[in-house]
Amino acid sequence: MKRIFLSPPHMSGKEQEYINEVFKSNYIAPLGEFVDRFEQSVCDFTGSSYALATINATAAIHLALRVLNIIKDDLVLCSSFTFIGSVSPVLYQNAEVFFIDSEKETWNLSPKLLEDAIEKASKRPKALILTHLYGQCADLEKIVAICKKHKIYLIEDAAESLGATFQGKQSGTFGDMGVYSFNGNKILSTSGGGMLVSDNEAWIEKARFYATQAKEDAPYYEHKELGYNYRMSNVLAAIGVAQMEVLQKRVDKCKEIFLWYQEELNEIEEIRFMPEVKESEGNRWLTTLSLCKTDPKKVIEHLQKNNIESRLLWKPMHLQELFESSSKALNGVSEELFTQGLCLPSGTQLSRKDVGLICQYIKEVLA
Ligand SMILES: Cc1ncc(COP(=O)(O)O)c(C=O)c1O
Repeated sequence: MKRIFLSPPHMSGKEQEYINEVFKSNYIAPLGEFVDRFEQSVCDFTGSSYALATINATAAIHLALRVLNIIKDDLVLCSSFTFIGSVSPVLYQNAEVFFIDSEKETWNLSPKLLEDAIEKASKRPKALILTHLYGQCADLEKIVAICKKHKIYLIEDAAESLGATFQGKQSGTFGDMGVYSFNGNKILSTSGGGMLVSDNEAWIEKARFYATQAKEDAPYYEHKELGYNYRMSNVLAAIGVAQMEVLQKRVDKCKEIFLWYQEELNEIEEIRFMPEVKESEGNRWLTTLSLCKTDPKKVIEHLQKNNIESRLLWKPMHLQELFESSSKALNGVSEELFTQGLCLPSGTQLSRKDVGLICQYIKEVLA
């Protein structure tokens, strides 16, 4: 029986050809034509003015914090319902995290709790790292307004939401800086990779400098600041260029898969699919849902027995031992979703028949 994975890579067919070009040119380096082309293709698609390709999205978030001068003891607000890579860069900077819970309406960061947290905080927060969960946008209108009002930098963690829009504009382009991920399970994959975007050229150039070991412009190796080795290789960028050519196709297919699941499971009362904030179109990177009665682990086990991969939703960051002492503004929403929610296989090579089969197994458990 073939295994159905949660979200495996899906190549366009052009990747090998572009990699061959890289080999012919011998630019097997974190530099080269394909890195420039990959960065340009992300700018063209998202409408962002400047981009920097990085080894992964976690590194891109770290660079954003460095460029925005987030330093020791600074306070950074973060979505709690997210993946660790969104938050660990705050610790790399020895800054402090303040977690904000989700709202029921979007499963994403609650604007109301954000306001409360800013008022309650012991010092003025310098930045917010906002995750667009599972490819669905947070309520950007309210959140951008709050950040502007309080002069807080907004870093959008759009690792999962490449291709999602809010009021017709791409996620990742609302904040001061935005980040996309191209790791193995994202809507596009370069095996590993990330992209930092911004409309501020100086910030992207500063990030490029930090990502290149902070090497000063000199005919020898001169260093005045701490840097990192965070640039993407030309080989992986070649994969990225080929992947970007099919981004819209992949987004359309993820949305179609979501509709298939809805069609199949709509009559089951206890199921709630992840909602979508008004005026937004998520990329539905993963189809996710919550169950009011059945333990989702039972569904996961039954799917697993049938060689199908599914997962619980993220365990909120405020529940992680690592962040025991961090500040938090909570309302119970992400904790409840963690105990009730499920990510279903959403790879863009799934057929209608595959989804029918997966839903048959789900119905066997929920019946
Ligand atoms: C919300 C979120 N933020 C950050 C990351 C980190 O991305 P990367 O694995 O490219 O470092 C991921 C996924 O891996 C993610 O899902």
